[in-house]
Amino acid sequence: MEHILINGKIPLKGHIKVQGGKNAVLPILAASILTKEKVRINNCPDIDDVRHTIKLLEMLGCKVFFINGTVDIYPEKVEDTRVSGEHTDKTRSSIVFLGAMIGRLKKTVITKPGGCKIGERPLDIHISSIRKLNVTIFEKYGDIIAYTDKIKGADIKLTFPSVGATENIILTAVLAEGITTIKNPAREPEILELADFINSMGGKIKGAGTDTIIIEGVKELRGTEYSVGGDRIVAATYMGAVAVAGGKVTLSGIRTKDMKCITDTFRKTGMKVKVTEHSIICRRKIKKFRLKNVNYIETEPYPGFPTDVQPVMGAVMSYGMGISKIKENIFENRFMYVNELMKMGADIVLKKENAALIYGKEKLYGTKVKAMDLRGGAALIVAALGAEGETCIEDIHYIKRGYENIVRDLQLLGADIREEITGEDEKEDGR
Ligand code: UD1
Repeated sequence: MEHILINGKIPLKGHIKVQGGKNAVLPILAASILTKEKVRINNCPDIDDVRHTIKLLEMLGCKVFFINGTVDIYPEKVEDTRVSGEHTDKTRSSIVFLGAMIGRLKKTVITKPGGCKIGERPLDIHISSIRKLNVTIFEKYGDIIAYTDKIKGADIKLTFPSVGATENIILTAVLAEGITTIKNPAREPEILELADFINSMGGKIKGAGTDTIIIEGVKELRGTEYSVGGDRIVAATYMGAVAVAGGKVTLSGIRTKDMKCITDTFRKTGMKVKVTEHSIICRRKIKKFRLKNVNYIETEPYPGFPTDVQPVMGAVMSYGMGISKIKENIFENRFMYVNELMKMGADIVLKKENAALIYGKEKLYGTKVKAMDLRGGAALIVAALGAEGETCIEDIHYIKRGYENIVRDLQLLGADIREEITGEDEKEDGR
């Protein structure tokens, strides 16, 4: 069993170069099969979700080498039309292989990613949109089956700006005959990165990041080299760490204009946040004042407050002075971390409308807690950094899905944090 041990209340100091973005790199890895030529991706985070996606690429027939943050993909032979097995189940974003496989082979059978703890995550918008591109597509026995003799451009209007559906439409349409227009697409920075990546392969995508994306189909794409931008959610996690533990930390390697809503929200807590184009300096003198509460936060599609930062903000607000309300609008089950925070002494009431009322406390206390999902797990680390005494966080495999080495990063900043392996796992894999 792996777990993380943290002794809180040590101010953090130093500099972190933020890892490459998980939500950007996963669709980019899938998109690499749209060419037969070599693709090189730099600044790729070494996280479990990337490892699973690489396994999927290899199962499809690609040769992949991942060394020191650089992934070289040789996608000359992609022959297997089936995307399935444990690796589709382990990373939810395996669903972007749907669009990439239709683009590459014009047919695929893909196992639907397993149910997700944070919410149902239906695929109706993906399926109905891809169908408009002259693709026969339906669900059968837990698989999605899709095939076409010719992908044809179409006008598509999304009922909700789904990130995954927008990615799948782009991936299907880029090699289509004719023009595809997506109205009301997701505008997340990761969509812009996917479009930039595909355009660097010779794709013709305009308007990513706006309310209309126009994709002019091309006959083929070429190989490319691309560097993934820094992970705005990881940066927000480390901002949360400084907010509760105090200190002064510089975060670099991120596009800060993508984080405006996050930096504005952190400023409301009283933490000093200085922003340049690619870095954020966070500063808080812990003895000087308590964190202020943030009256109300609700999660929304970009540019609103991201659902992925909601749990970290819940942990920060547990130390706020007064009452904060957080409303979760994207996923129905994203407050699983609340029960764990309450074991540490947080005072939180969950409301029927998928909201949490957080009554800020001066102190939380270390105890044994469990990561219930990726971002909820990160929120527990943040909470523990401000707590009295030792916190033990179990089930940290969730956290490793998205954080390259959060323990190393926080140790570099001076935190008293370590990972321990005990019991059966230690014997099994000798670590
Ligand atoms: C979502 C987040 C994204 C985050 C990612 C990982 C949003 C809008 N999306 O992306 O920022 O990085 O999780 O945690 O914040 N939906 C449907 N039918 C569909 C597709 C989606 O009803 O076919 C609904 C979902 O149930 C959910 C909402 O749309 O309520 C957002 O889904 P979507 O953006 O597609 O999710 P992800 O792509 O996983």
